[in-house]
Order: sequence, then structure tokens, then C-alpha cells
Amino acid sequence: MPYENILTENKNATLHITINRASKLNALNKVTLSELNAAFKAAFADDDVRAIILTGDGSKAFVAGADISEFADFSVAQGAALSSEGHASVFDLIENSPKPVIAAINGFALGGGLELAMACHIRVASETAKMGLPEVGLGVIPGYGGTQRLPQLVGKGRAMEMIVTADVINAAEAYRIGLVNHVVPAEELITKCEEIISKVISKSPVAISFAIQSVNAGFVAGANGYAAEIENFGACFGTKDFKEGTTAFLEKRKANFSGN
Ligand code: COA
Repeated sequence: MPYENILTENKNATLHITINRASKLNALNKVTLSELNAAFKAAFADDDVRAIILTGDGSKAFVAGADISEFADFSVAQGAALSSEGHASVFDLIENSPKPVIAAINGFALGGGLELAMACHIRVASETAKMGLPEVGLGVIPGYGGTQRLPQLVGKGRAMEMIVTADVINAAEAYRIGLVNHVVPAEELITKCEEIISKVISKSPVAISFAIQSVNAGFVAGANGYAAEIENFGACFGTKDFKEGTTAFLEKRKANFSGN
């Protein structure tokens, strides 16, 4: 499907989504957000896609934030709508993806860009990446999940410091505090993501989606993560993948999962 601001390509059962607005450092405008929504939904429905890599075009930026020029004159109501619609249509959508999503952070991941990376399940950064939530410097706060997902990933104290100082940190520091899973030279960024995905692809897609759902349930206010785990664990026993996985183990052969 042709998009204006993103590129998509399926390679080896992995959908590569590249935000393609390098002249604006891949800033998230309305069109880009709506295309991300469409591309992710299409990926969820496509049996030929087993995992997704999200990155930014060029070597300078993953995403330098929400597009400031689009919201500079917004009212209170428009600001609230911008945030809530963004949560539902892109950030929560990605977090709850049934297929693993890896952010390949190739440069600046600022504001909405870091929030986008944090909504992904795994983050791999290039050595040159820079990350931060600079919103308070603009008189606003992170509005695409940053005040919640950053503390979940790095702890409340470190998150609070990054948010109130608007400090931008480098990849080594992001790795040290657990914000990213891996740091690699820029030219190895996508290969490293593909290496992680090659492990995912040999496993049961249905079990993976139940696992993602169960982990996420523990971070939803009012939801009981343990109850979700118990329910999803039980549900696995009704799947063809479970039958195949356990039978293959007992027959000492490699499992061949169908994703059902
Ligand atoms: N929204 C809209 N446009 C943005 C943008 C954003 N978040 N970030 C960068 N751009 C645009 C710039 O306006 C510029 O456009 P122009 O060439 O038409 O003037 C272009 O992208 C290149 O950015 P520029 O600022 O010239 O690059 P730089 O190398 O001097 O600085 C940054 C890079 C990332 C430090 C700087 O762009 C920046 O601070 N961006 C905003 C980061 C931010 O506050 N994000 C949170 C938003 S809530």
C-alpha cells in the first residue's frame, strides 16, 4: 500500500516500517500517525508478518518528536484530544501488538519519538542515538505515554529526573539505565534487530501473542497481571501450536508452528 510518510517492506516474515520524513527529522504529524495506525493494523492481519521493525529514515533521527508546528496553537480541548487519540490509535496499538515490535533507534528519539520507541516491545539503539523527553522545555508534558512508560522501564526516580530536566541522554547511558536492550554500531542496527527476530520466528506465534498480552496486563491500572497469565496459560492448551510444540519435543524434532 502506498503511504506518504512511511515505507513498508516485508522481508523474511518481518515487516520493516520506516518513518520517511527525514527533512523534518521524522517528526510525527497527523498523516504519519494515521499511516502508522494503518500499517500496524495491516501487519496484525497479515499471516506473512511475524514481527515488525520500526525505524526512522536517514542517519540523524528515529523521530524528533510530535510535529510541534501542528499543535502550537491548540486549545485545552484540542490538546487533550491530540493525546488521547494518539494513545489509542498508535502508542497503545503498538504496545498491544500480538506480534513482537522492535524499535531500531537510529538517531534522535525525542519526545513523541522516544514515546514511540517505548511503546515497542524491544529497543535496539545505534551508538549515535540520543534520547530524551524535552517537552517541559516547550511548556507541555509528555503526552503519548511517556510519563507512564519511562518509569516502567527505568524506575520512577530516573524517569522523573529525565522528564523534569528534559535531559537528552546518549545510547550508552540509555543502556545503563535499561531504557534500551542493546546498543550496536549504526551499520549493525537492523541486523541486530533481525537477529532477535530470527529467534522469535521459530517459536509459536500464538504463545508469543499470549505472552505479550500477559506481560502488558501487569502494567494496566486495575488489571490483574497474574489472572491474565493464568487465563492465557490455560488458553495455550487449546491451541494447535501447543500440541505441535509439546509433540515435537517428545518426538525429539523441531516444532513447525502454524500460529493457531
Ligand atoms: N516538530 C516539527 N518539526 C521538527 C521537529 C518537531 N518535533 N523536530 C525537528 N523538526 C524540523 C525543524 O523544524 C527543521 O525544519 P526546517 O528545516 O523546515 O526548519 C528540521 O526538522 C531539521 O531540524 P533542525 O532543528 O534544523 O535540526 P538540528 O540538527 O539543528 O536540531 C534537534 C536537531 C533534534 C535538536 C531539533 O530539531 C529539536 O530540538 N527538535 C525538537 C525536539 C523536541 O522538542 N521534541 C519534542 C516535541 S513534543
